[in-house]
Amino acid sequence: MSDTQEREKLFKEFFGGDDGDFVTRFESFQALMVQYNCAVREVRTKFEVLNEELSYRTSRNPIESISSRIKTPISIAGKLRRLGIEPTVEAISDHLNDVAGIRVICSFIDDIYSVAEMLAKQDDITVIQIKDYIRKPKLNGYRSYHMIVEVPVFFSDGKKMTRVEIQLRTVAMDFWASLEHQMKYKKENTGMPEIASELKSCAETIAATDARMLGIRKKIEALQEQGK
Ligand code: GTP
Ligand code: MG
Repeated sequence: MSDTQEREKLFKEFFGGDDGDFVTRFESFQALMVQYNCAVREVRTKFEVLNEELSYRTSRNPIESISSRIKTPISIAGKLRRLGIEPTVEAISDHLNDVAGIRVICSFIDDIYSVAEMLAKQDDITVIQIKDYIRKPKLNGYRSYHMIVEVPVFFSDGKKMTRVEIQLRTVAMDFWASLEHQMKYKKENTGMPEIASELKSCAETIAATDARMLGIRKKIEALQEQGK
């Protein structure tokens, strides 16, 4: 099955496919996914540009890697259902902020705040929401800096403002979040207080190590400064 056929099948399953206007609805769904895809590319390029410029100015890379994804029809429909909203194409852009997602893995904690600020200052970026789970970690120990931004995508028929969810984390925070995410789906583990508290304690060790690594980098920079 081609990608489009697969998407059409999934769309039918979750958004209905028996009515006369299926073709129109599926076309507008496809167009919306193209819009999200283009918005992700634009935001990704913005981070790549910042990384390239900063790496030549500072001789190190503030960004380790960038990954991105577009939510699948199943998870779009699932989220709308959970929110108690009828799954329609309009509801996607009206109610969801995380159809387009980008994860930016930074080297050090201060890199997260500097690249986030540099992005926020760009005049085609509108910041809609910020959740700072680094200054205020989640109860389970999760740490990351989340932004919802709006970016214009220019099409033949005009400008479409599009929302993108950005998660910025250090390599260490990503290590914890990836493993914790994998283990969440192992049902037998959930709800066991000793496992939750061990995971939280690992998150704290990781956060302390992140702070120490930043301290080491600053010491080296100070020594280099003195040696000049
Ligand atoms: P969602 O409905 O999950 O999108 O949550 P939300 O709208 O309240 O947004 P929030 O900013 O809290 O979380 C968005 C995303 O961050 C999630 O989809 C995950 O990718 C990630 N995330 C949030 N909390 C956790 C966590 O405890 N563990 C892990 N591994 N990831 C998390
Ligand atoms: Mg989400």
